[in-house]
Amino acid sequence: MNVLLIGSGGREHALAWALTASPMLGTLHVCPGNAGIAEIASCSPLDASDHAAVIAFCRANTISFVVIGPEAPLVGGLGDSLTAAGIKHFGPSAAAARLEGSKAFTKELCREANIPTAAYARFTNAASAKAYVAAHFGSALQTASLDRAVASQSIPIVVKADGLAAGKGVVVATTRTEANAHIDACLGGALGSAGAEVVVEAFLDGEEASFFALCDGTNVLALATAQDHKRVGDGDTGPNTGGMGAYSPAPVMTPAMVERTMAEIIRPTAAAMAARGTPFRGVLFAGLMISADGPQLIEYNVRFGDPECQVLMMRLKSDLLAALIATADGVLDRFDLRWHDDAALTVVMAADGYPGTPQTGVIKRGTVIRGLNAAAKVPGVEIFHAGTTRDADGQLIADGGRVLNITARGKTVAQAQQRAYQAIDLIDWPEGFNRRDIGWRAVERG
Ligand code: AMP
Ligand code: GLY
Repeated sequence: MNVLLIGSGGREHALAWALTASPMLGTLHVCPGNAGIAEIASCSPLDASDHAAVIAFCRANTISFVVIGPEAPLVGGLGDSLTAAGIKHFGPSAAAARLEGSKAFTKELCREANIPTAAYARFTNAASAKAYVAAHFGSALQTASLDRAVASQSIPIVVKADGLAAGKGVVVATTRTEANAHIDACLGGALGSAGAEVVVEAFLDGEEASFFALCDGTNVLALATAQDHKRVGDGDTGPNTGGMGAYSPAPVMTPAMVERTMAEIIRPTAAAMAARGTPFRGVLFAGLMISADGPQLIEYNVRFGDPECQVLMMRLKSDLLAALIATADGVLDRFDLRWHDDAALTVVMAADGYPGTPQTGVIKRGTVIRGLNAAAKVPGVEIFHAGTTRDADGQLIADGGRVLNITARGKTVAQAQQRAYQAIDLIDWPEGFNRRDIGWRAVERG
């Protein structure tokens, strides 16, 4: 069968790499793709927000299955348009994608289904939100659960824009001034419609982990666990990014913690979405805080994580295409997946200036990268491209903030880490940088 994959990042390169191993695959089309994906699939430009164009592309190329990588087309209803056109696809409807598209929606669902998450309140009015923060910030009020949660932690407090804000929506505030400034920014329109409502929530203490599960509307199937590093600098310092590296499995996600996550968070979510008449079909990516009380939901994403997907695909033994089709067909109850016992780790190489904040400066674009062939020969290493293109002479050019994902498998996280950095040291790209400590927490645990 011919397959269309929508997206252009490292996540999509890893998905494409896994899909090409499927005996069921005819031609893999990726739109728009990147220079790395173009080596293993047919890439063409296509605007995923133009649903008619996507459907026309599917008809012209006899596509029988579409895999939607990023959140924006899912929240924008590309899945619904494909359903209406009778084209099978992987990824939720717009109504189900609200689990990522609206934080307030997800918080309400958690309240309804009794899913453990931070206590919260939601506001569309800045004065009310600020009055709320003032009343709760570090003071010992006793009534609602948010009061207790905030009082017990005293500070910080978390202020979130409701909608998709490309990583700029969340502020973990340690002063009231900071919390108020983000309330003003959101409700004042700095994030566009994404900030028209804010969620104020209690700070959760613990270790973060990412958990992935396929969900076919009724049945859920646990995938692997991962941990990522969101801060730009070594030691988890500096501004937040889309992710500077990740590894799998996450040591904090013991089999018992996985089972609790399935029982207390994932299954109730699938059941609540089905009961509302908006069943979730796709991959649920739960951002978790593993606290002293067990797993708490920080947020949902309705797609694979980037760069978490890269390490999951390195560990997946089974046929990805078959799993995604089983999800779309609603037959996950008859499906199982096999995984390599090995660990996997990925290091993001980014262009100087990434993520493009006042602290880090402007992202440097268009520089030449050399040495990938030698790096790719390091045992256990796969290089996934995130933001690359080729110039007229065929040279590899950096074309984005996050540019390459140097990914390795190993018997342990430590071995995977050693292999990834061995490959990185063979890459000649003076205008790029990467963290040197991806996986430190798992390596320290031994
Ligand atoms: P989100 O976009 O909701 O994943 O938030 C981005 C990051 O903010 C998370 O990965 C956490 O590190 C942090 N965060 C969000 N909500 C909370 C919370 N309630 N308590 C502690 N940290 C949080
Ligand atoms: N790496 C975090 C994300 O994909 O949202």
